[in-house]
Amino acid sequence: MDVPSMTGDCFTADRLLLFGATGDLAQRMLLPSLCALDADELMHDDLRIIGTARSEMSDQEFRNFAREALEKYLPADRRGGMADFLNRLSYQQLDATTLDGYKALAEKVGEPKHGLAIFLSTAPSLFEPTIRGLQHAGLDGANVRMCLEKPLGTDLASSCEINDAVASAFPEDRIFRIDHYLGKETVQNLLALRFANLMFEPIWNAAHIDHVQITVAETVGLESRVGYYDDSGALRDMVQNHMLQLLALVAMEPPGHFDATAVRDEKVKVLRALRQVEKGETVTGQYRAGAIGGQAVPGYDDELGKDSDTETFVAIKAHVDNWRWKGVPFYLRTGKRLPERVTEIVVQFRCVPHSIFAGKGATMQPNRLVIGIQPEENITLSLMAKVPGLDREGIRLRQVPLNIAMPDAFVGQHRRIAYERLLLDLIEGDQTLFVRRDEVEAQWHWIDAIREGWHTQNLKPKTYTAGSWGPSAAIALAERDGVSWHE
Ligand code: BG6
Repeated sequence: MDVPSMTGDCFTADRLLLFGATGDLAQRMLLPSLCALDADELMHDDLRIIGTARSEMSDQEFRNFAREALEKYLPADRRGGMADFLNRLSYQQLDATTLDGYKALAEKVGEPKHGLAIFLSTAPSLFEPTIRGLQHAGLDGANVRMCLEKPLGTDLASSCEINDAVASAFPEDRIFRIDHYLGKETVQNLLALRFANLMFEPIWNAAHIDHVQITVAETVGLESRVGYYDDSGALRDMVQNHMLQLLALVAMEPPGHFDATAVRDEKVKVLRALRQVEKGETVTGQYRAGAIGGQAVPGYDDELGKDSDTETFVAIKAHVDNWRWKGVPFYLRTGKRLPERVTEIVVQFRCVPHSIFAGKGATMQPNRLVIGIQPEENITLSLMAKVPGLDREGIRLRQVPLNIAMPDAFVGQHRRIAYERLLLDLIEGDQTLFVRRDEVEAQWHWIDAIREGWHTQNLKPKTYTAGSWGPSAAIALAERDGVSWHE
């Protein structure tokens, strides 16, 4: 496909440089996403992709490596034109910690016609030396964009350090920070649901909403990420980024436009309005041996091979201190080794102010909107309806679902990998679905205070059995307010 190049910062990159090109993310997500975009003719004909990593490899060896990854992680029906895609790839070995190899890397990248997009998918400890290396080799000009994969630090201070290092070479409008949840179709659909329909916005506030629940449950355990995860824990791995982004999208004011400045301006206001969490408003847990889907699984300490205080589950009662959300709790929970993989947002509305059916014996339940993000992509609004009958013994009402399954509503559309959208936006220079520096820092600010509280209270994770919904204290956290987690 021939994509016109735009002026100024809005160039369409014709070179993509992937750091960490032999890593797990590249194999599972980046190479498959790029190949799928190519198969759908969404890539500039001139786009060349240069992989770099520590291992020694020829161009051909990298192509073979990429082919294996594609065969493993990309469904066969999305691999059309794989040979052409592989021809776009080349490889340059690099030790990112020393300046020596960067000039050779720049030669391999060559002179882009329009611009270069760089994707850093390496350990954050390599970000600073990499930036220095890129500057040394002149790979930091006005036609270069920088994309950073998480984790962006482990707290506010380390995140600021990374952001400062990147800012020394690239202005904010050329920095693209990934939160892959923003690339998910259903997450973007949240904005369509809220701002492309008239009926939700007038009741999207404390007068009509009782509470919001956000659940990101996973069945997987440590996987192969022992070192990283034990230093991170669920709060920093999932809440600091993905869950706070979901919360911000649910809670933000309507932006004036769907563009990077307007959307991110509104999100950051929400993140800054998060109230500091108080004692008793968080629960942490760590899984012990149990069973998921009938399969026995080991405990976290067994997988790790030692005792640890890292939380693999966290539940939080959060508040957004502004007019719209006054007194509306946002219950967040995420964990590993929970009974099912599900990401969903539940908006629980208040009861009707007066029941005209009370005298007829009918009981009512408030409406509830459930936005399924994964694995099911659906939106369910529960409504009260009359049970058919002649009502001689009173009126009976029952909750019935109004259910929209997205795959059925849009038959024939691919279910895309979140990175497809993000990589295309990076190449074309649209920052709307990337996280701005002030957002990341507001997120860390809130998270650091929670960790500080845990430290002061000497709070240790409670154990829970793998395959359960976390420690019983998490159930109590909501039940104290008369709320049940949606399951
Ligand atoms: C990553 C976390 O950011 O998101 C992982 O580091 C987690 O621990 C993953 O498993 C979940 O992503 P998804 O897209 O599978 O929900």
